[in-house]
Amino acid sequence: TDQTIQDELISSIRTITDYPKEGILFRDITTLLGNARAFRRAVDALVQPWAGSKVDQIAGIEARGFILGGAVAHQLSAGFVPIRKKGKLPHETVRIAYSLEYGLDEMEMHKDAIQPGDRVILVDDLIATGGTAEAACKLLKSMGANIVAACFIVDLPDLGGRKKLEELSVPVRTLVEFP
Ligand code: PRP
Ligand code: ADE
Repeated sequence: TDQTIQDELISSIRTITDYPKEGILFRDITTLLGNARAFRRAVDALVQPWAGSKVDQIAGIEARGFILGGAVAHQLSAGFVPIRKKGKLPHETVRIAYSLEYGLDEMEMHKDAIQPGDRVILVDDLIATGGTAEAACKLLKSMGANIVAACFIVDLPDLGGRKKLEELSVPVRTLVEFP
């Protein structure tokens, strides 16, 4: 991604210390979302490698992945599949437990949301340890998805998330890094 775009995205992201737990530097993208130009640039940059190619579904991870994933799905003329925290989806689901930088949780998706062979792009705002995205990829693969890529605005490379996904043979696209 172009350096000017990276600088614009980085400067539109706010950092909160000790949230949600002591010792965490929380990278808050609400300020990016509230900046019309930065929001558009982030979505455009995320989808750029797949513009014009066939993508069946965008899978977005609750909650921040919903905001970006909806915009990405619209841009690529793809469907949208919500991957939600447990207990929120009304129909039959597949569920998986996972850990992230500051906790433990369970996520699920509807069993009929993906058809075997569907070309799917996973979208979230940020990858830290990769625990969340890895779990989402496992759910998608268990339903027969062909995961084209996993896309994030922010990478925290010191936490090793990218490697976890690459070990699952999932290509990773990120736009900016924070040390
Ligand atoms: C954040 C972020 C990613 C995840 C990344 O979500 O949006 O989904 O953490 O962490 P990891 O790479 O260490 O797994 P969070 O669980 O805080 O949920 P929220 O979007 O509902 O705030
Ligand atoms: N999810 C996991 N780690 C995070 C961080 N440092 N900032 C924002 N979201 C996160």
